[in-house]
Amino acid sequence: MSEIYRASTTAPVNIAVIKYWGKRDPSLNLPTNSSLSVTLSQSDLRTHTTASCSPTYNSDSLLLNGSPQDTSGSRTQACFRELRSLRSELEKSDASLPKLSTQKLKIVSENNFPTAAGLASSAAGFAALVRAIADLYQLTATPTELSRIARQGSGSACRSLFGGYVSWEMGSAADGSDSLATEVAPSSHWPNIRAIILVASSAKKGVSSTSGMQQTVATSELFSHRAKVLVPERMTKMKDAIKRKDFAAFAELTMRDSNGFHATCADTYPPIFYLNDTSRAAIRVVENINAAAGRSIAAYTFDAGPNAVVYYLAEDEGAVAGVFKGFLGEKEGWGSERGGKVKVVEGKDLDENAVQGLKDGVSRVILTGVGEGPISVQDHLVDEKGEAVAR
Ligand code: DP6
Repeated sequence: MSEIYRASTTAPVNIAVIKYWGKRDPSLNLPTNSSLSVTLSQSDLRTHTTASCSPTYNSDSLLLNGSPQDTSGSRTQACFRELRSLRSELEKSDASLPKLSTQKLKIVSENNFPTAAGLASSAAGFAALVRAIADLYQLTATPTELSRIARQGSGSACRSLFGGYVSWEMGSAADGSDSLATEVAPSSHWPNIRAIILVASSAKKGVSSTSGMQQTVATSELFSHRAKVLVPERMTKMKDAIKRKDFAAFAELTMRDSNGFHATCADTYPPIFYLNDTSRAAIRVVENINAAAGRSIAAYTFDAGPNAVVYYLAEDEGAVAGVFKGFLGEKEGWGSERGGKVKVVEGKDLDENAVQGLKDGVSRVILTGVGEGPISVQDHLVDEKGEAVAR
């Protein structure tokens, strides 16, 4: 029987606090600005991927949550090509190594969160794919080197190769060799950042980020000011806020950057609207929570969809997550280990319409926090015969 080679990993989701929005080179996925994110805990949100290869496989394949995916797209192909070329260099330098670079790949992937929730899964997906193949090929490349490859799968994926606080430096080289992710600080530096995700029920498929950002670059007049002036300033301030563990500064920069990014979406012609009434209700309640505390203890941010991600510190759990639990306690998600521990707190001076808007518009909540980067695991989703493991 032919040998089946396997390696498995889990990889996290990340939610940007300074957003990537705009490509200067769409084929290499080179951004118009740097970005910075918080990696979220894999206990709550993760992609688990097994990469395998064997001389018996006839074609490259990718199975996600049991459904076959197209691997012929240029993004997946770019990742396969780059990783194979690194493996082939290794094989050239050591003739005793099996020639895995010439074999077909079978990738099997599972998310531990509902795809329907509309959470950015491409970041965790491509990070897991790249990490698992790099492990299968026993590459010595660092996470930063691998980020150059994951970026070509999906821009935001390059940040999911690290835990904690991660920046993606836009770089300036035309070939993208310096457009890479690096760790700003490990999660252990500031471990008490938490997040509550308010999943909006009518998560109708809107404009994809890939296409939305292209339209913004092409038509928005506000956009270049954001990319050239505002984001570079915020990147510096955000790194500093993280170093100093200054939540109020982190919060204001996060909310301003989300607002600014959505302003460039509204300034796109024709306009793109990712926020809906539920999103605006979440913003209002976060403002109420901060007003009651007399300082910023909660920070909202939104990606290319209506779900709110609200960051806060563990010590303010009651005043933030507890207040949401006070009126969203019936929703799915509080039964989790983290959710169960949140004490209900009665919110002060909450906008009644906003509270009602969230009750009507939120389908579930996810309680999570800052977490670690990809983790190598022995739980393989491909068995010893090369078959996908049915779950
Ligand atoms: C709003 O990484 O999904 O979430 O590179 O085209 O795959 P592609 O785009 P993607 O865009 C993410 C946009 C964002 C902001 C962010 O994560 O920084």
